[in-house]
Amino acid sequence: MLVLGIETSCDECSFALVSDGREIVSHVVATQIEYHKPYDGVVPEIASRKHIEMITPVFRQCMDIAADRGYGMNDIDGIGVSTHPGLSGSLVVGLNYAKGLSLSLGVPYVGVNHILAHLYAPQLEQEIPYPYLGLLVSGGHSMITRVNSYDDIEVLGASIDDACGEAFDKVAKHYGLGYPGGKVIDELARKGDPKAYRFPFSNLYKGAGPYDVSYSGLKNAAINQLDKFWDGKSEQSIENICASFERVAIDSLVRKLEKAAADTGIDTVVAGGGVAANHYLRESLGAHPEYRVYFPPLELCTDNGAMIAGIAYHYLHEEQYSPLDLGVSARVRGFRRI
Ligand code: KG4
Ligand code: ZN
Repeated sequence: MLVLGIETSCDECSFALVSDGREIVSHVVATQIEYHKPYDGVVPEIASRKHIEMITPVFRQCMDIAADRGYGMNDIDGIGVSTHPGLSGSLVVGLNYAKGLSLSLGVPYVGVNHILAHLYAPQLEQEIPYPYLGLLVSGGHSMITRVNSYDDIEVLGASIDDACGEAFDKVAKHYGLGYPGGKVIDELARKGDPKAYRFPFSNLYKGAGPYDVSYSGLKNAAINQLDKFWDGKSEQSIENICASFERVAIDSLVRKLEKAAADTGIDTVVAGGGVAANHYLRESLGAHPEYRVYFPPLELCTDNGAMIAGIAYHYLHEEQYSPLDLGVSARVRGFRRI
């Protein structure tokens, strides 16, 4: 079954054709970063307008690549599209495109959860048996989850304030490092000393959510009161600030993940979302030989249509189609919190 995936939830406009939920036939990701850079963050109104401009050229490009591999419009069996969570105005552009294509091609479509799709991304390369611990770390969400199947996850813990990627972006913005900040901090951190500053770990162990994390304290420590956390011996450089911030930001998650693995007895860990591209996170989890760790390839960590087509295949295969009056939602719906 050949599925067309459409992703427009934030600042990436992306289409992909994926066969049977695994093999990527064609994939195009067009980023809007250059339009949002002057504002150091995504401007929702600009994002939705740019999606309207970009969506048809990106779709055509995806179909041109498919044509070189012998596939055409008539080979599309179904369509998947991100409908939540995300920026409403941007999601609507992709959803309406999906509805139009569904009607004109006479094939079903399904709206899918963007978070579940991120956690499905590593399945595009190989079949990973369920259940596994899913670490979802993006610009909008940080969650430690138990993934029981492609559409059944239980949230074990989450950030109680800023998302992990958001903290990277805000720290980068404060130091004038540009947008998006995660990648820049990651690069600078490689040249810095992660122990030059002792930024605070959030200590939420005693709270109701033993796997929850918090980023506002760390973010404020990295932005303000630098002297308070500086070890006084190392150089006060941006590389050292980035490396020290990154260490605490990622170790906080890894510690909670270790606890979740010990408590649940699940030793397979799958990461997804933009922060899953972070080299320190990849190294930290990779240093755990007792876990089977799966990361998506770098291009499938950030938002992309392939993960949408991949997960949509399973719904379409089970004839779970969406109606034409489906809407979008800015927030996550329907996750069980345990
Ligand atoms: O999943 P994604 O593309 O969009 C959302 O669904 O939010 O994630 C974007 C986030 C941004 O906050 C960005 O700064 C962060 O992922 N990011 C990184 C890295 N690459 C992207 N954070 C840390 N290290 C990276 N290498
Ligand atoms: Zn995302």
